[in-house]
Amino acid sequence: MPRDSGPVGGRNRGRTIIGSWRQPVWALLEAKILETLHLEVDPRNPSPGAIAKAAGLLRSGALVAFPTETVYGLGANARDDGAVRRIFAAKGRPADNPLIVHVADPAEAERVAAGLPEAARLLMARFWPGPLTLVLPRREGISALVSAGLPTVAVRMPDHAAALALIRAAGVPVAAPSANLSGRPSPTSGAHVLADLAGRIEAVLDAGTCGQGIESTVLDLTADTPHLLRPGGVTAEDLARVLGREPACASGSAKSPGTRYRHYAPAIPVYLVEGDEERVREAARDLVRELAARGLSPAVLGTAENAACYGVPAVTYGAWNDAAALGRRLYAALRDLEQSGAGAIVVEGVAETGLGRAVMDRLRRAAGGRVIRV
Ligand code: TXA
Ligand code: MG
Repeated sequence: MPRDSGPVGGRNRGRTIIGSWRQPVWALLEAKILETLHLEVDPRNPSPGAIAKAAGLLRSGALVAFPTETVYGLGANARDDGAVRRIFAAKGRPADNPLIVHVADPAEAERVAAGLPEAARLLMARFWPGPLTLVLPRREGISALVSAGLPTVAVRMPDHAAALALIRAAGVPVAAPSANLSGRPSPTSGAHVLADLAGRIEAVLDAGTCGQGIESTVLDLTADTPHLLRPGGVTAEDLARVLGREPACASGSAKSPGTRYRHYAPAIPVYLVEGDEERVREAARDLVRELAARGLSPAVLGTAENAACYGVPAVTYGAWNDAAALGRRLYAALRDLEQSGAGAIVVEGVAETGLGRAVMDRLRRAAGGRVIRV
């Protein structure tokens, strides 16, 4: 039987509404206060009862947050206009930012996309299930709202037993952005989802902490040359091994609507210090002293080795060149430090190779221009 800890909307009502101050007024007015069902499952062996409950809700047009290997998604039936519209309202997401459609096997991608180029088949065979989203020509039958007016659709097969079981049981493709309020750090636990969305969605399927913590790579395959729209868990080097060359970079272009918006930001300022390992430590130490002198109570997100030197509260990750370790902790650390009473967060950047590109991309957005290069 599912460990169903019951509705949480009631308990969190006041906080949910107050916590949504970043939302446009229309989003607040439109979002009804709901009782959010909290369905806890084992990440490797999710109980069929909980999956059936969540799948039934999805089929009926409800919003269900679910775990993936990257971050939690906020799911709705991708064939149901009304359900998809509610995703945008619940998150306060701009209507021109399209959603990823999640499928449970590669064959289902053919029912979402209008034809798969050879590169898509090769990449799906190599990286699915996994953190690679492919942008393909859109097929009729998927809600046009999912694509936000574009002639394309983004598709991915997540590598998480609960996500795959849910999509299979629902029997429909599942549109899902990250399950956070728009602009906030992405959620890597069921608790993060509830902190942002309790009272605004019908249910969360909670399987604990996500293994990777950084959203999928988004690759556009609709032009002659593959374009990387968002770096992620599948690196440019990984893609080059299948494609024969690295994809072109399209970050920030009109093709990648999501990159136009401020993202991943906690409610307190984030300062990113990036560059050579030694100089980063020196510059971060100077910055921490300066912020402390200004009465800003800084906290640090840094390597375990350096963190002890700062003399302020710190969340640590592994070595300077271990981008995966920072990626796993990044969003939870931003949320934890925001709650800790600190007035600012100083982050030591990591080497920008492999997964480091995705981690630094998210950090620069969270910092919103407060970047110190040394
Ligand atoms: O790992 C992930 O990708 C997570 C999990 C839940 O699957 N999802 C996620 O969704 O990060 P979201 O909505 O937070 O980010 C989706 C990104 C956005 O930058 C969006 O603009 C882009 O994908 N995107 C979606 N559809 C697109 C399309 N048709 N063309 C270009 N970009 C698209
Ligand atoms: Mg997102």
